[in-house]
Amino acid sequence: MKYIYGNFKMNSTVSDVKAYLMTLVTNTRDEKNEVAIALPYTHLTTAKEYLEGSVVKLGSQNVAEEEKGAFTGEISADMLKDVGVDFTLIGHSERRNIYNESDKSVNKKIKMALAKGLEVVLCIGESLQTKEAGKVESFLKKQLEEDLKGLYENELKSIIIAYEPIWAIGTGKSATTKEIEKTIAIVRDIVAHIYSEKAGKEIVVLYGGSVNPDNFKSILNTKGVNGALIGGACLDANKFSSMIKSL
Ligand code: 13P
Repeated sequence: MKYIYGNFKMNSTVSDVKAYLMTLVTNTRDEKNEVAIALPYTHLTTAKEYLEGSVVKLGSQNVAEEEKGAFTGEISADMLKDVGVDFTLIGHSERRNIYNESDKSVNKKIKMALAKGLEVVLCIGESLQTKEAGKVESFLKKQLEEDLKGLYENELKSIIIAYEPIWAIGTGKSATTKEIEKTIAIVRDIVAHIYSEKAGKEIVVLYGGSVNPDNFKSILNTKGVNGALIGGACLDANKFSSMIKSL
């Protein structure tokens, strides 16, 4: 089974998303692969209604570190659960880089999300500078060790790792399948080192970064890749559905 996750980022309105969801639900009626979309907060309640009875999982793109209280502008894990959200993205590079989200914060968010029964898609990935300096492995090791600090091996069943090299996001320049295979093997080794060989093998790892209808199948067929986290190319329901159907 493959995992096809979409990330809307800050796109569309609630009015737009209704038609989108109807198309997606129709096109995924008998889908055996896992299909999921992470939508803006404002869309979640409506999306839940439209996804009722469908196979499509619903996610948010972020979650608060704290449980509740004086945190103006934040949305808690309880609030997401309350509207029927299944999972949340955590640590997307846009959150880390534009909003200075630290590994410490990512770690707190993962713990909060899991404690409240949300599944987690933990996003990791290196910058172009790190890649060019030949430090991908040490960077990912530090990122994963800090993000997963204090989490138990049995909690990994509710965590998906999305490897999204920053230089490939929104650039139209995806990593090559060779690069993806190599780096995802590194990610699995790191997880094996932190937990166990079994954990490294079993953890679900997605690739993200300029996945499009042309490279989708070859990326999904790359060794070690369980699925994709798709930004730009998920925004058109027909395009997204035909990628899913092409599997
Ligand atoms: P693009 O597919 O637009 O490159 O975005 C990838 C991404 O950041 C998904 O989270």
